[in-house]
Amino acid sequence: MPEDIIIVGAGGFGRETIDVVRAINATATEPVWNVLGVVDDGPSPVHGARLAALGIPHLGDIEELRSHVASARYVIGIGSPSVRAQLSERIDSWGGRAATLIHPAAVVGSEVRIGEGSVVCGGAQISTNIVLGRHVHINPGAIVGHDCRLEDYVSINPGAVISGDVRVDSGTLIGAGAVILQLLEVGPGALVAASACVTKNVPAGATVRGVPAR
Ligand SMILES: CC(C)(COP(=O)(O)OP(=O)(O)OC[C@H]1O[C@@H](n2cnc3c(N)ncnc32)[C@H](O)[C@@H]1OP(=O)(O)O)[C@@H](O)C(=O)NCCC(=O)NCCS
Repeated sequence: MPEDIIIVGAGGFGRETIDVVRAINATATEPVWNVLGVVDDGPSPVHGARLAALGIPHLGDIEELRSHVASARYVIGIGSPSVRAQLSERIDSWGGRAATLIHPAAVVGSEVRIGEGSVVCGGAQISTNIVLGRHVHINPGAIVGHDCRLEDYVSINPGAVISGDVRVDSGTLIGAGAVILQLLEVGPGALVAASACVTKNVPAGATVRGVPAR
């Protein structure tokens, strides 16, 4: 029997998450998940139309999830780390149970631990001896090198490269195509701009950009 799941967020990553669920079902011997729909406090008309084109209903506001937590799992398909942190705390206070989704076309190595609520997209590569916290997003084509530790609510955007033995602290966003060199630490709540090359540790809450990133 497939398990019911509700996606939080009708935006781009929410709909990509639906595709991750569909790919998991398509490659399993029998469906793993039954998508009940999406909750979102007010999808824009364009997001609403794109959701409808996928044949997935908008169930209502996020509050609607409260009445489903006993029977359905949830996953947050929203790219902002801080929004994910706030929402997961709220949903977990209702007794919410997060699902962990790994696209069958992701490459996941040995000794990898992936926390609840995390989403690993197709084409992502996660090397060996890695720990991902809760509600971590690994976008398409991102690479996470050996021995990395990514804490809760980290977002690794498409095509970013996290070299070996890097620590990415809680709530940090690594922009599309950015490169983090080996053995560095990116502090909590930091933002690494798209295409940046990080060559030194990044302090908590800092935004860095450029090559080398400053
Ligand atoms: C760095 C970033 C956070 C800046 O956002 P912002 O504060 O809204 O910045 P603005 O767009 O107002 O631009 C401010 C300045 O930074 C520059 N800038 C923006 N992004 C930059 C980047 N990635 N690298 C270098 N410079 C950048 C702009 O050109 C502008 O320069 P100017 O003042 O000389 O004209 C953002 O551009 C970014 O890279 N975010 C990551 C996005 C990402 O990964 N997207 C993929 C989603 S799937």
